[in-house]
Amino acid sequence: MCGIVGYVGSDEAGNFLLDGLRRLEYRGYDSAGVAIHCGAEFTITRSVGRIDSLAGALGDVMPSGSLGLGHTRWATHGPASMENAHPHLGGDGEVVLVHNGVIENFQVLKEGLIKKGYTFVSATDSEVIAHLVADELKHAPETNGQPNLRYLAAVRAAVAQLRGTYGLAIAFRDHPNFLIAARFGSPLVIGVGSGEYFVASDASPLVGRTERIVYLADHQLAVLTPDGFSVLHRDQGKVRVDIRPLETDSGEASLEGFDHYMLKEIYEQPESIRNAMRGRLDDENATAVFGGLNLTPQQLRSVERIILTGCGTSWHSALVGEYMIEDLARIPVSVEYASELRYRNPPIDNNTLIFGITQSGETADTLAALKETKRKGHRTLAICNVVGSSIAQAADGGVYLHAGPEIGVASTKAYTSQCCVLAMLSLYFGRLRHVSFESGQRIINELRQLPAAVQQALACDEQVRDVAKKYQDASTVLYLGRQYNFPTALEGALKLKEISYIHAEGYPAAEMKHGPIALVDEHTPSVFIIPRGTTYDKVMANMEEVKARGGPVIALASRDNPEVESIADDVIHVPEVPGFTQPIVNVVPLQLLSYHIALLRGCDVDKPRNLAKSVTVE
Ligand code: G6P
Repeated sequence: MCGIVGYVGSDEAGNFLLDGLRRLEYRGYDSAGVAIHCGAEFTITRSVGRIDSLAGALGDVMPSGSLGLGHTRWATHGPASMENAHPHLGGDGEVVLVHNGVIENFQVLKEGLIKKGYTFVSATDSEVIAHLVADELKHAPETNGQPNLRYLAAVRAAVAQLRGTYGLAIAFRDHPNFLIAARFGSPLVIGVGSGEYFVASDASPLVGRTERIVYLADHQLAVLTPDGFSVLHRDQGKVRVDIRPLETDSGEASLEGFDHYMLKEIYEQPESIRNAMRGRLDDENATAVFGGLNLTPQQLRSVERIILTGCGTSWHSALVGEYMIEDLARIPVSVEYASELRYRNPPIDNNTLIFGITQSGETADTLAALKETKRKGHRTLAICNVVGSSIAQAADGGVYLHAGPEIGVASTKAYTSQCCVLAMLSLYFGRLRHVSFESGQRIINELRQLPAAVQQALACDEQVRDVAKKYQDASTVLYLGRQYNFPTALEGALKLKEISYIHAEGYPAAEMKHGPIALVDEHTPSVFIIPRGTTYDKVMANMEEVKARGGPVIALASRDNPEVESIADDVIHVPEVPGFTQPIVNVVPLQLLSYHIALLRGCDVDKPRNLAKSVTVE
């Protein structure tokens, strides 16, 4: 979703801004812009579409100046257009700002400002903030020799009137030697350089420019000048902040020979799964170990219920976790959409542990759901990929995925790492209860086989490509599986929807008869995930039912299964693995299937239309 960059120092601001915006592209956006102070005023350049068009609009000679702001906008209020693209101006152009988040009371504020004579050129909620700051400047007291204090007072007064969320970077035409940043509910980081300071919506633009970072907290403001920075609470005085080393994990991801990040990330899975498990399997005690849960074994032993919450693909890994934890640790689990949990107000018993599952650590609904349950006094933990992200900071503790940066909007390696962490947590909780030493050892061994099994699953790529060619024109695809493979069916369908724009539905195979079977005809393929196991015969029967109605069948099954071969039109071979690790292995061909179909349909795989990587609004 929207991205922010800002620079103040002695270098050319434009270089950092454009490069930084490129590194934020993965978040999803539909227009972009930069403002560079070039002497007497700001030169503002905006464009609709990709950063390449912004670079084209900027031309060969970048406007010169050592203070500037940049933004990628994911449209909320008003369509993607030049007028709505940031940066926005306030007053007569004395204020320029970029904004992430949503201002809920913008209409009321706008009406008040219009009455005072301010004119609006965009439909955005963000322009309201720019005029509000300009208006507050009129009342801000003079501060002899320290103009930034006056501007700071105006920003403080303006943000105090906002309802909603904001990450703001603000600069001023008449004082081009400082920037003000403000955060509430929309992440912002400060990059600490020497003689130069940066602001950004996440750490990625800072890599290569500084090794020191400050994560702003809600209600904090920062003033950045070429000589230093200070952080203040919105309503109080200065705040002491930790300057942390910039994690190399936030590092630049490169394609390394792959055509797309999504494909690269699919292929990285054997390694990312290995990284998720590194140092966490304890053979001596036949359990898993986690450094950051911040709960004693006694506290964990007394957990009577677990709630797993998240959005999108992370919600699917929560479903996998439900099966794993109940199966291996025998603790009742409920899975909640974070967007529902935050408002639903369910009764939650004492001794309930809440896990927020998230790749980015910035998803607004997941953050709000965790904060709400934490406020009620429950223990909240995060299963998260991005170190230092808002959710990682808000939770009482948690487990990092160590999957490395995930750039493709459609989540792949973060998903399998989340499932892997949930499997290790199941082992851990199980070993605190009834799971024997011997069973613990068996589970560890099965987990250790995972990277090799995923590697083997990747070998189906050629086969999947052929299947993709055959079904690329389908308008609906059904995904069906049972037990551990039901969430995989949901995830397979989501992957296809996200990047190829084909309508797809995932269902527990047995539910098919209660509705989806009405969709089956010779043009509607069904993907069956059918490993051997308890429900194998039942799923075979469902496959027959689809065949009997003329529906093409694609089956994911083990290599030596003539029975499946005789019924399915196409079989994709997957290695046979124990039930609880099947979701991690079986999702791989489905990720590849959606990738190849999207490619054949000419879709932008890494940046699918309308989607954002990091959904920082409700
Ligand atoms: C967006 C992304 C999905 C992701 C979801 C949750 O919708 O496009 O890929 O699964 O957000 O994101 P999170 O970062 O919380 O896992």
